[in-house]
Amino acid sequence: MTKKIILDCDPGHDDAVAIMLAAASKEIELLGITCVGGNVGLDNTVNNALKVCTLIERTDLKVFSGAKKPIHYDLFTAEYVHGKTGLDIKGDPIEVSSSYKAQEQDAIDFIIETCKSSNDQIYLCPTGPLTNIALSLQKDPSIKKNIKEIIFMGGAAMCLGNTTPSAEFNIFVDPHAANIVLDSGIAMTMMGLDVTHQVNVNRQIMNYMEENNNKSSKFFSELMEFYTIFHKELYETEDTPLHDPCVIAYLLDPSIFSGKLVNVIVEEDSELTRGETVVDWLGVTNRKPNCFVMDKADDKKFFQLLKNKFATLP
Ligand code: BDR
Ligand code: CA
Repeated sequence: MTKKIILDCDPGHDDAVAIMLAAASKEIELLGITCVGGNVGLDNTVNNALKVCTLIERTDLKVFSGAKKPIHYDLFTAEYVHGKTGLDIKGDPIEVSSSYKAQEQDAIDFIIETCKSSNDQIYLCPTGPLTNIALSLQKDPSIKKNIKEIIFMGGAAMCLGNTTPSAEFNIFVDPHAANIVLDSGIAMTMMGLDVTHQVNVNRQIMNYMEENNNKSSKFFSELMEFYTIFHKELYETEDTPLHDPCVIAYLLDPSIFSGKLVNVIVEEDSELTRGETVVDWLGVTNRKPNCFVMDKADDKKFFQLLKNKFATLP
């Protein structure tokens, strides 16, 4: 059975790859792409989603604009990773088809309406700060029963953060939203840095993808050429974690990843550890498990899947 999903994102180079992977997959029905302020401001994340869908010739996909800023904090952005537009590349700027626009309906209302009107339960797939998802759950908690699972990219269970020593970017940006989502009682899977750092892009991977010899796989490399610049400097290796597509890869083939059901709470206010995902991996508290936290990924299987799916794109 096809899985009905809403991809909630802040594109972002790796979000762009997640959009392409979802769009390429027949096993997935991509009901909508909802955008949130994150890597860059909302206007840019929306425009970037439109750019990606134009490039893969899928202007039938609906793009929605959501929350401009986190629930309590000001928006903290990552132009230092993704460039000024959030989807910078070295070559010519990517165009948006002139007649292709974001939908009028707000992302939060779209999420609520879609969940309520669908006969099947929906998978929510956030790859940015969790603001849109949290606001939807707050506005209409009755949608919880219509959600099969939330699979989010964010957090760091047993490794360092990438935005502060203790926090991963998406959770750092809106820790209050993360706690609302984690507290919802909905089945939840966390694709944190623990696994995304096992799925790395380097020149070899770009060559491997380019063997597809199509526009989308070449675009993958163009995106990665820019995206890897920051990471090479930070991590002092040729390997760059490809975070966001892990969410979609998990939906397509859960056997790529493994982990454990544990309790996760997010630190909201501490100046030192804001956005830290406090993961009770060893079960040393009596806090109820609320999230399946992934800690292992099979990168070979992941990139085989990515390559095969990209082969079906223009
Ligand atoms: C996350 O932060 C963003 O920069 C990426 O798009 C990804 O969602 C990784 O920490
Ligand atoms: Ca993202």
